[in-house]
Amino acid sequence: MNSLKASILIVDDIEDNLLLLTAILTEKGYQVQSAVNGLSALSLAAQERPDLILLDIMMPDINGYEVCRRLKADPHTEDIPIIFISALGEVFDQVKAFSIGAVDYLTKPIRIPELLSRVKTHLSLHQLQKQLKEKNAELTQMLEHLKTTQAQLIEAEKMAALGRLVAGLSHEISTPLGIGVTLASTLNNEAQNFEFQVNQDQLKKSIVVNHIVRVKRSSQILLENLQRAADLVQSLKQVSVDQSHLKKQEFNLKSYIEKVIISLSPHLEKTGHQLTVRGEENLKINSYPGAIAQIVTNLVINSIIHGYQPGEKGCLDFDINCQDDRLIISYADDGCGIPEEYIDKIFEPFFTTDRSRGGSGLGLHIIYNLVTQKLQGQISCDRQVSQGTKFILNLPLEVQE
Ligand SMILES: Nc1ncnc2c1ncn2[C@@H]1O[C@H](COP(=O)(O)OP(=O)(O)O)[C@@H](O)[C@H]1O
Ligand SMILES: [Mg+2]
Repeated sequence: MNSLKASILIVDDIEDNLLLLTAILTEKGYQVQSAVNGLSALSLAAQERPDLILLDIMMPDINGYEVCRRLKADPHTEDIPIIFISALGEVFDQVKAFSIGAVDYLTKPIRIPELLSRVKTHLSLHQLQKQLKEKNAELTQMLEHLKTTQAQLIEAEKMAALGRLVAGLSHEISTPLGIGVTLASTLNNEAQNFEFQVNQDQLKKSIVVNHIVRVKRSSQILLENLQRAADLVQSLKQVSVDQSHLKKQEFNLKSYIEKVIISLSPHLEKTGHQLTVRGEENLKINSYPGAIAQIVTNLVINSIIHGYQPGEKGCLDFDINCQDDRLIISYADDGCGIPEEYIDKIFEPFFTTDRSRGGSGLGLHIIYNLVTQKLQGQISCDRQVSQGTKFILNLPLEVQE
């Protein structure tokens, strides 16, 4: 603010005082107005909203304390800083003055440098307060705006994710179904040819044998492709987190994970991998064991499928820890790891580096949905590991309903 343009209201019932103060302050470039009693001070203050008020205490109608109280009670004038002016020998109650909202006081006879320096200080303080208030209002508005934008973004992202899922699914399923349609029509032609040859009495043993070979091969490939389409639809069911069969309960996490791993032993035994579960023995959590089982299974199967060459033996490791009321589950294997350029994509539906061997690319997507929605936590793939793959799950010990 340009302090030269600041406006000051002086209130004093003694004309000489008014003239003196007016002269001093006008000379310094302030816009000065004056009032000779409490009531006219109140109406001037309400009309003009000065930047500062210098207020005498003893006045014939209402005294300075009362003027101050009324100004502070009115939302239009409550922010105006008030400096009391008390006469020498007058009983001046400082505590009262500050408690009703004055910012300072001066004692008569007034020393000009002191007057000017206090006026200047309180004007700039007032100005700063005003700016702070405005900034605050601006920030509150921005925060509101951000909140709405965030909610809209989340909604948009949900829709986009659904769109990607549907697009991905139709793309994935169209290949096996397309092959299925082609093979079914091949089989149909084959049957018609065969029928024709039967009707013509042209059947030789070699024709029958060839026919059987072709039918067997085509129906075998047809079966594999239809099975692949059916598997895709099946795993897509799991993508939706609304799995009502999942029940929330309290359970010991470490022994539960160990149980899940036993159920995986048919997969593990063939490989010779070493699997360990370390960490808090007695930790009980109130969560969804069914979701934990799916996560553990998908993580381990991924290590087996993607992490190692045939015959290579690896170490797979779960580590359970508590940090500030959060449950941290780290899972690591010492396999080939995930290339840096894929890390941002691995949780997307249908991202797989293993399509040729039947990978659906849904495993980590299902894990992601379970962790972030059902278990109300976060999952990240640790980029720091030099060898192998490491996932860190950060979960609440108690899931909210
Ligand atoms: N333990 C792991 N080691 C190496 N690569 C992995 C591991 N886990 C996941 N990946 C990579 O992440 C991709 C996505 O995994 P996922 O969503 O389970 O799909 P899928 O197993 O069907 O390929 C895999 O194709 C693979 O490239
Ligand atoms: Mg997988």
